[in-house]
Amino acid sequence: MVHKNRVGVTTSLEHCHKEVLKKSQQLLQFLVNLRYEGKVSLGRNIKSIAEILKFFQKTLLPHMDLDERILFPFVATHIPRLSPAIKIFKIDHREFKSNLRSFIVLFEQLKNAKTENRRFEIIEQLKEKGTYLMCLLRHHVRAESEQIHKAADEDLHLVEKNFILREIKKVCKKHDPLRN
Ligand SMILES: [Fe+2]
Ligand SMILES: [Fe+2]
Repeated sequence: MVHKNRVGVTTSLEHCHKEVLKKSQQLLQFLVNLRYEGKVSLGRNIKSIAEILKFFQKTLLPHMDLDERILFPFVATHIPRLSPAIKIFKIDHREFKSNLRSFIVLFEQLKNAKTENRRFEIIEQLKEKGTYLMCLLRHHVRAESEQIHKAADEDLHLVEKNFILREIKKVCKKHDPLRN
């Protein structure tokens, strides 16, 4: 039984959003480092970026999946005024996933680049794609927290919140998507 005053329905999802904002800021910084620190720090910067991409794949993608399978349908049914916003959030998810995929392909090419010129070219493209991707993600996460999480915490009844929490727990037990 969840105590009314102790747990917001979206606490664990909010925790993930905060991590996402932190990691997205770090990724932007590592992309700048990649551009200006040159060959000496190439290995270190590649490793740092790879860790953030792993976080996106292991934590953020299952989180988006959880949103779409549990939170969104439930919120759309119980708070119908949020249905249009939910449609947009789903489009954001698609856009993010497809851009993340092409970013990863490019990143793999960087690891295998043989010449300085080729590396430079790829780094420029990574910076451009990464900036767009992180802008999309940061905007999305803030809007989702502001609209969906806030409304779910404020407008749903305790019994509805408990239902969502139970469903989230079931999924978390399977593959712990909300942790690092
Ligand atoms: Fe989310
Ligand atoms: Fe989302």
